[in-house]
Amino acid sequence: MCGIVGYVGERRAAPVILDGLRRLEYRGYDSAGLAVLAGDHVDTVRRVGHVAALLAAVPPELEGTTAIGHTRWATHGGVTEANAHPHLDATNRIALAHNGIIENHTTLRARLEEEGFKFRSETDTEVLVHLVHKFYTGDPEAAVKTALGLVQGTYGIAVIFAEHPGVIIAARNGSPLVVGKGNGETFLASDPHALSAHTREVVYLEDRDIVRIEANGWTISRMDGGGVSRNVEVLGEEWAEEGRGDFSHHMLKEIHEQPESLARCLRGRVVPELGGARLGGLELSPRDIASIRHITVLGCGTSFHAGLVGAAAMEGLARIPASAEIASEFRYRNPVIGPDDLFFAVSQSGETADTLGAVKEVQVKGGRVFGVVNVVGSSIARTCGHGVYVHSGPEIAVASTKAFTSQVAAMLVAALSFARTRALGPHEGKAFGDELLAIPERVGEWLASEPRSVMDAVDLCSKGRFVFFLGRGVSHAVALEGALKLKEIAYVPCMAYPAAEMKHGPIALIDKGTPVIVIVPDDVMRDKTLSTIQEVKARGARVIVVHTAGDTHAAKVADISIPVPRASTLISPLLSVLPLQLLAYRAGLALGRDIDRPRNLAKSVTVE
Ligand code: M6R
Repeated sequence: MCGIVGYVGERRAAPVILDGLRRLEYRGYDSAGLAVLAGDHVDTVRRVGHVAALLAAVPPELEGTTAIGHTRWATHGGVTEANAHPHLDATNRIALAHNGIIENHTTLRARLEEEGFKFRSETDTEVLVHLVHKFYTGDPEAAVKTALGLVQGTYGIAVIFAEHPGVIIAARNGSPLVVGKGNGETFLASDPHALSAHTREVVYLEDRDIVRIEANGWTISRMDGGGVSRNVEVLGEEWAEEGRGDFSHHMLKEIHEQPESLARCLRGRVVPELGGARLGGLELSPRDIASIRHITVLGCGTSFHAGLVGAAAMEGLARIPASAEIASEFRYRNPVIGPDDLFFAVSQSGETADTLGAVKEVQVKGGRVFGVVNVVGSSIARTCGHGVYVHSGPEIAVASTKAFTSQVAAMLVAALSFARTRALGPHEGKAFGDELLAIPERVGEWLASEPRSVMDAVDLCSKGRFVFFLGRGVSHAVALEGALKLKEIAYVPCMAYPAAEMKHGPIALIDKGTPVIVIVPDDVMRDKTLSTIQEVKARGARVIVVHTAGDTHAAKVADISIPVPRASTLISPLLSVLPLQLLAYRAGLALGRDIDRPRNLAKSVTVE
């Protein structure tokens, strides 16, 4: 969603800000703007649409060396230039960019209007810049602090003042901000991606931190008083500057990165000599593992689907009762949490507001929650304190692909480690671990020889009115994931069901030619799923079957057959999801969609 970039140094600030905003485009946004300190005032340029439109509008004479920029994903007020950030105070001498939501903005606005403040936008944010102006008496930090003392809600903000060249004041509460250490220059961003061309040394701000940033450093204090120092962290190699390489889209590149991202996720964690696995971040003794009563895996969207596989592995392999829940629902249902219950919060970005809210709810109730997170230093990773990084590396495309497979792999490793304590002998554990370790290569081989039938499926699905996805057990999670991908990238209406549910209602929708995609690994549920295929075929469906290579019967009942390598049930999603990722990508392409930035979506959903 929204993104913030700031720069203080000796360079012309506008190009640095524009480059940072371009790197944040993947998060999803609908307008962009920047504010540059220029002598005794602040210049702003704002545009609806892509950063390219902003770039074209920024005049070369915009010379200042202190600036802030913003990409906005509209929440309060339409997609207009007036609503784009940064917002200015009445004197045009203070500019402010904001991520998050000011919940009491209506009351604050009414009060400010009574006092004579004139509003130029419909946003919740504008109250902030007027409040900062109202309380400004020469000390910028004090003004921001006093203003923030009146607001309820979430924020990551960046503020510049014409009277204080070379200074940015930033503050965070529920919306991430990082400070980037340069050489004689300092950066600010809501996401370290924005800084990848300039520095890998970053400081993550904590909630209720306020920071004064200057070219040669920064000072952090707490909103309720007192200074604080935070460590400089160095981002790993995989987070260094990234491009699309020879791929036409980030999504395709990320699909093809899965052999590497999976290998990174598994490396050093599966330990064949022990017939088990070791996950340092979990810090659970065998005794702790033995006493777990129930595991709940929390997540949203794709991360929830990965969580479904994770929960199935915890139950099926480790024999611990487990379930997965959509984080946004969990957090408000006043869940009962026992002392021996364990939670995992799965999130690529580590910033999803609903998942973060669920983590906090678990913690308020005294529960233990571990993160299964990709972005290092993200809010969920930090709030959980312990967990597993999935090491996918940067995922830029809005549609999650390599993060899904790494999340599943990380949960399978965790399940294996728990299983060795609770259920599995060394030989069974080793067999599972060996199969996991072989997965990156098998994924690579399949991707290198993608069956031509994927294109036949693309043809059928991109012409269909809607598409059904069916599967059972973990293959139902894959069906949900395949349907989500096709919806978000190709905008094709889809439904995913556990196959046996069809006869309880949805089969009424099947008509001549309806595309139905069925995931049928050769496991204990295979024959039952094959029966469902017969039922939908009998009603005219055209059936695309993703099945185990060599399963000739499954291939024969299919109108379009897509074989994937044989795998044991719990591991099979790592292979059966691949054709569905490519199907969505290729259908999106065929239908002329904006693959990496699909309409209405944001990569990191930081509002409820
Ligand atoms: O960053 P997270 O994994 O927490 O994000 C959760 C969902 O917003 C995300 O998976 C979303 O569903 C993706 N667009 C799916 O491709």
